Amino acid sequence: QKLDMELAAIEKGGYDHFMLKEIFEQPQTIFDSLRGRLDAEQKHITLSGVDKIKDKLMEANRIIIVACGTSWHAGLLAEYVIEELCRINVEVEYASEFRYRNPIITDKDVIIAISQSGETADTLVALENAKKQGATIFGLVNVVGSSIARLSDAGAYTHAGPEIGVASTKAFTAQLAVLYLIALKVARDKQTIDQTLFNKLLADLAKVPQLVHDILQEQDAAIKEIANKYAEARDFLYLGRGFNFPIALEGALKLKEISYIHAEGYPAAEMKHGPIALVDENLPVVFVATKDSYHEKIVSNIQEIKARKGQVIAVISQGDNVVAGLADDVMVVPQVHEVIAPLLSVIPLQLLSYYIGVNRGLDVDKPRNLAKSVTVE
Ligand code: G6P
Repeated sequence: QKLDMELAAIEKGGYDHFMLKEIFEQPQTIFDSLRGRLDAEQKHITLSGVDKIKDKLMEANRIIIVACGTSWHAGLLAEYVIEELCRINVEVEYASEFRYRNPIITDKDVIIAISQSGETADTLVALENAKKQGATIFGLVNVVGSSIARLSDAGAYTHAGPEIGVASTKAFTAQLAVLYLIALKVARDKQTIDQTLFNKLLADLAKVPQLVHDILQEQDAAIKEIANKYAEARDFLYLGRGFNFPIALEGALKLKEISYIHAEGYPAAEMKHGPIALVDENLPVVFVATKDSYHEKIVSNIQEIKARKGQVIAVISQGDNVVAGLADDVMVVPQVHEVIAPLLSVIPLQLLSYYIGVNRGLDVDKPRNLAKSVTVE
């Protein structure tokens, strides 16, 4: 028993929980997922899996992204990024719905399957069905040699290493990193991106490991305090627009999983069509409000929440005095191009849910009723 406990402590590498260890590993795991693939100096991306199905991708009618849970959120962001950069029509599907609803699939469709474990039953069967109908399957998987990796026609591993925490953190950011590489490479091949933007996005992506490191070092203590302040809340609302909308969804999911607090993610403007009815002085509202082309819009959404006495916690870009002046609490991230920003803005939200879960005395590594890998329907 004692030996087991000591071994577990060693595995956690000095951290109280695997979740925290894995959150802090992200500068390294994101670096690993970019390593050998992104060459910011030569302005080049190497991804042999993408080359392997290049013809299919160039001619694709559309890309269908199939996933569950946190991986589905990575897929939703990929929709925004691929449509913006590659001008290919993208649909994002929950694997469980896709597999049962007789979707229209042809050999001109490319499916990107996103899965940490590579074993999620719904995702696997959805892919088997699509493959039978002639679609090309590209697997974005963390576990090497897993079922989804084997079923795929081509793919890329995320290289995040084993993830023990049931709620996904480092696997998610590795998925985003590789999805950015895929989008940028396809955009370059299709010539739907100009050289200046391509270079800028490549340079920003290359900086992400260091910037994530900086966020963890500089924001950890402040986020812990914010978590303690709001840990008793009964509900949370997470709002974001554009590229940060999938991050609002992921922030809400993380909080639900780890703290058992009811949390909903919404597109910021859509809140007027329902969630705004919940707003009072007891409702913390988390805004993912980094500086981007929607910034003015989200500032007015924040004002709407404040006018109804909601408590606003905002993820903001460094130097954003406007939102800092409106919000009750802020979590600060460095400014990068808005396409890449989600890879930074998710980090404070992971820490927030972790510290709220810990404050409530919960088993953050193994939340009740959840499984790391859902291999049954
Ligand atoms: C479970 C896990 C989640 C994960 C989801 C999809 O619900 O608890 O963290 O996002 O499955 O898993 P996959 O392995 O396919 O990414």
